[in-house]
Amino acid sequence: MKHIETIGVVGAGAMGRGIAQIAAQAGIRVRLFDVQPEAVEAARIALNAVWQKLVAKDRMTSSQADAALQSVVACGDLAEFADVDLVVEAIVERLNVKSDLLRRLEGIVAPDCILASNTSSLSITALAAACERPERVVGYHFFNPVALMKVVEVIDGARSDPRHGDALMALARRMGHTPVRARDMPGFIVNHGGRGMNIEGLKTAQECVASFQDIDVIMREQAGFRMGPFELMDLTGLDVSHPVMESIYRQFYDEPRFRPSPITALRTAGGLLGRKTGEGFYRYEDGQKVLATEAATPPFPSGIAVWVAPYHSSGHRRAAALLRELGVEPVTSELPPRDALIVVTPYGEDTATVVAEYQLDGSRTVALDTFFGLEAGKRRVIMCSAATTPHWRNAAHALFGRDGSPVTVIADSAGFVGQRIVATIINVACDIAQQGVATPEDIDLAISLGLGYPGGGPLALGDALGIAHVLDVLRGMQRTTGDMRYRPSLWLQRRAQLGLTLRATPAAT
Ligand SMILES: NC(=O)c1ccc[n+]([C@@H]2O[C@H](COP(=O)([O-])OP(=O)(O)OC[C@H]3O[C@@H](n4cnc5c(N)ncnc54)[C@H](O)[C@@H]3O)[C@@H](O)[C@H]2O)c1
Repeated sequence: MKHIETIGVVGAGAMGRGIAQIAAQAGIRVRLFDVQPEAVEAARIALNAVWQKLVAKDRMTSSQADAALQSVVACGDLAEFADVDLVVEAIVERLNVKSDLLRRLEGIVAPDCILASNTSSLSITALAAACERPERVVGYHFFNPVALMKVVEVIDGARSDPRHGDALMALARRMGHTPVRARDMPGFIVNHGGRGMNIEGLKTAQECVASFQDIDVIMREQAGFRMGPFELMDLTGLDVSHPVMESIYRQFYDEPRFRPSPITALRTAGGLLGRKTGEGFYRYEDGQKVLATEAATPPFPSGIAVWVAPYHSSGHRRAAALLRELGVEPVTSELPPRDALIVVTPYGEDTATVVAEYQLDGSRTVALDTFFGLEAGKRRVIMCSAATTPHWRNAAHALFGRDGSPVTVIADSAGFVGQRIVATIINVACDIAQQGVATPEDIDLAISLGLGYPGGGPLALGDALGIAHVLDVLRGMQRTTGDMRYRPSLWLQRRAQLGLTLRATPAAT
């Protein structure tokens, strides 16, 4: 395996600068080139400022900072890359410009020099196609900001020599990063795994299930994510995230799981891009989100009788236990008595489907989401059908908020909000595993470090929530909506059938 001592970085923008920083900090010599020579000088000044700050915080000595700065050499000509062991390109995201650069580099560097691309959306195989030695072209996908985002994807193109990927894995570790290995497929691991959250969040909003704000709040306070889809898209900006949604959908030949939403097309056209334009899914004043006030919990209805439908066994048990904690003993008759609130606990189905299937009184029926547990203090989500009357909706809101836990009331939805978004995220991750893009371990590492998802990554999260329950949610959604986007990945279905975990790989032959 090739040992790397000197690297050439092409492109001194946000990414090239970050890559130069972590390499120099690890004692690796860096040559930095950009078509705009002033960008290289600006990068060295910015790097010096970063290192001086680290010195001030006692995280680096001043001699280490001096050495790091000296190891980043500004180059005015690509010819100065003749003796580097590796080139990482971080230039403009255009296939022909990157291919031209790689071809030019082949005429300058040694035959065994590795050529790496930091592309986030182009195929490594396609980039390598024009090269004389396509086997030396590998993907090296860092995230922004490079020094803080500690994960890097090492991507093998169809013709890459795996030994070069191994060398990049070792180099990433020397630079203090966690490398994950991916096969060349659209979105690699992180941008592929990130499809579920935004796309399903948008579909949920498009069906008028809940407001953008309510969907975000549910994802944070019920499902345990750091951010909901609309906060995330406002941060990234729709000028970036909308084209990525369209591009990955097309690259997978209109895979329904990745079908984008007209909501983002429309808002992009209208300039509602997010924080950067002062308005996105939220309005911003002085950089702060303007939030709608939540509806207050209505007064507790004394003497209320509650019947919990026994159709979904674990949901039923969780709901009944919560009611007892809230001081209400659920009625245990076989059928709901007159004038009792009817609580159903579906997985993946909407309230209307359960009402119709069991011939319940729709005006008194509400659904409670039991998928994430119902501990005090955690947000609870209840769902009403079009037939639920305001009287019974308010009664349910008061009841489930009796201990002070926040409650969000949403409109009817196959899979509430949290169930459908989280099951979609898990399903997409399962399909990444099924396609052999990466190992289950690397999928969880990449997605938890790259996207900050909770639970140790989507596969571990699926195991913790219960694979059978996740499968129930997906099948319920597919049955209720008829939409193929919810079909369970074979990876998930087979592991549920075999009683294995989502992280189980086939035994080696
Ligand atoms: N910014 C991100 O969040 C991010 C994250 C991961 C990957 N990437 C990828 O990294 C690459 C660079 O992104 P960035 O955000 O640093 O861009 P940037 O616009 O900040 O910097 C690109 C730099 O490349 C230079 N450049 C353009 N064409 C060149 C050429 N032919 N030869 C030499 N220099 C050239 C430009 O002058 C500029 O300084 C892109 O491929 C992008 O998709 C970006």
